[in-house]
Amino acid sequence: MTFSRRRVVSGLTALTAVAIAPSVNAALLRTPSQNEGPYYPVKLPLDHDNDLVQVAGQTKQAAGEVVHLFGRVLDINGKPVKGANVEIWQCDAQGRYHHPGEGRGPADPKFQGFGKTMADKTGAWRFRTIKPVNYPGRVPHIHFRVSGKGFGRITTQMYLKDHPDNEDDFLFAGIQSEAERQSVQVSFNPTKGIDGLAGKFDIVLGGNARAE
Ligand SMILES: [Fe+2]
Repeated sequence: MTFSRRRVVSGLTALTAVAIAPSVNAALLRTPSQNEGPYYPVKLPLDHDNDLVQVAGQTKQAAGEVVHLFGRVLDINGKPVKGANVEIWQCDAQGRYHHPGEGRGPADPKFQGFGKTMADKTGAWRFRTIKPVNYPGRVPHIHFRVSGKGFGRITTQMYLKDHPDNEDDFLFAGIQSEAERQSVQVSFNPTKGIDGLAGKFDIVLGGNARAE
């Protein structure tokens, strides 16, 4: 199947317009920081756009279940952090990273593994990727690095909503409060106007966000 960027972009614009109402005058819960882990790319792939499923030069798309992941970068008062840089990285459908330290074998060359984008003026960002899978020692997750002017950089991880093994994951279980654990879980569901499953992950940069 050929990926139509225009279709994805317009669909997600409509989706974010109805799904996310700005929160005004309400202090939000800051997204908890999480360990970066060992697999941030040593060298960024030449193609590092926000579509991780289709890699430049590859005729076929990545193995795995395609999902659309979108959200906004907000400050603690719900104000958009426009122009925030959002990076994600994750393993392929077989649990392998594009990284020299990956010992489980070569990762899927059709999966980008890393993507980078910039939040628009409403703080909105989006990626097309695969639904994360587990690998030995970890439940499914996607790594995030987010930086916004005046906030420094935070690193965190996103998990699957109510995955039965989440509580057994040492990093997930290490998140201090239930509310914070809820805040990093995303459910992927069929969504009108989207060719596949979609999930929303809002990232809140607080005044006390840990600068790295
Ligand atoms: Fe990881």
